[in-house]
Amino acid sequence: MWRQKSPPSLEADSQIYQFQYTFGEHSVSGSTSAFQADRAGSSPAARSTMKERFYSISERRCFEIGLNENVKGLMRSVANNDLQKAKAYTRVLIENEKSESNKGFCNAIRTKLEVSSANLLELPADLRTFLEMEDVSVSFNEKRYHLTDRERAVYEKINAADEVNNRLSEMGIRHLNSTLLYGESGTGKTSFGRYVAYKLGIPFAYLNFAHCISSLLGTTAKNIANVFDYVKKRRCVFMLDEIDAIGLRRGKEDVGEMSRIVIGLMQSLDLLENGVVVIGATNRPDVIDEALIRRFSLKHEVKTLTDHETLQLATMFLDDVGVAYEEGNVLDYAKSHDKQAEIVNDIVFGIIEMLKSGKGFELKTME
Ligand SMILES: Nc1ncnc2c1ncn2[C@@H]1O[C@H](COP(=O)(O)OP(=O)(O)O)[C@@H](O)[C@H]1O
Ligand SMILES: [Mg+2]
Repeated sequence: MWRQKSPPSLEADSQIYQFQYTFGEHSVSGSTSAFQADRAGSSPAARSTMKERFYSISERRCFEIGLNENVKGLMRSVANNDLQKAKAYTRVLIENEKSESNKGFCNAIRTKLEVSSANLLELPADLRTFLEMEDVSVSFNEKRYHLTDRERAVYEKINAADEVNNRLSEMGIRHLNSTLLYGESGTGKTSFGRYVAYKLGIPFAYLNFAHCISSLLGTTAKNIANVFDYVKKRRCVFMLDEIDAIGLRRGKEDVGEMSRIVIGLMQSLDLLENGVVVIGATNRPDVIDEALIRRFSLKHEVKTLTDHETLQLATMFLDDVGVAYEEGNVLDYAKSHDKQAEIVNDIVFGIIEMLKSGKGFELKTME
């Protein structure tokens, strides 16, 4: 007997009807497009052909797909209410899916998964205003991130210290694995922090000082202390972004409250455990208190890209998106551009133009 779930449920964004067939002992459920369901409803004969076709396709698929380890992992995570794991499995399934016909579907799901707000880990309510905890294993796309040799060397040092952090603790050695990134805005300091968390396989805890300096300056020190208290014992990359917002030199631009915040921050840094990887970022290292700068064992300037690196960033991004480009065009562009954020902006702008006009992709300066 053919039984359509009644009333048919139309999923808002996919225009898909749920269906369910019952043939003797067999029951198969699935979905079909509104168009097909409409046609199936047009005559009994057409409906019967439809139902047989869907039945055989669905049945065959059940046997063909089976349950591989990733599908099982996804099901287990859903059953256990473990959303982060379910997302991770979904990502693996997307990466493994090679069929052309599922490409659009996979890309749409990937895009949804990459929206960082969709991958924020739960935090206690009082910390949410100041701190974000992101599961970068799902949201960071390594295929669109260009790692220069300069940043690779920094990552290797961070990783080396991180690998032995437990052993150092056992030996009673406290070592703050801390790096201060400085350089113009848009050169990829924040992105590098997320990359490090992604590579180390730990969450990305993000504290932005420009955001957390409240108009109620008096509560800022307390807020920062609360955040540190929470992060202190957790394995994560702890990014202190736009640190210059509080790092004014004591005794110069401001005394009083600001300097209390800086002192509080330094005390909090001294209490972090070895497994916390601290990455500070600023585009004004000149206004940061020297004592605070000394808390960072590594200092690294993030620079704009060379022509060759610009070419590499652009082509890896375009290859991952699947947009065809003229190498000559990208090469010409690379000669006059070097700032990571602008390159990515111009690429996206070019893609929008391409989609709008239906013509080929061209990389040029955004007007
Ligand atoms: N190494 C990189 N590879 C690819 N894209 C990058 C890279 N660095 C920066 N970007 C792009 O530039 C944007 C801004 O970078 P961001 O990390 O916020 O810079 P900063 O923190 O130095 O101001 C990112 O969202 C990303 O799109
Ligand atoms: Mg930044």
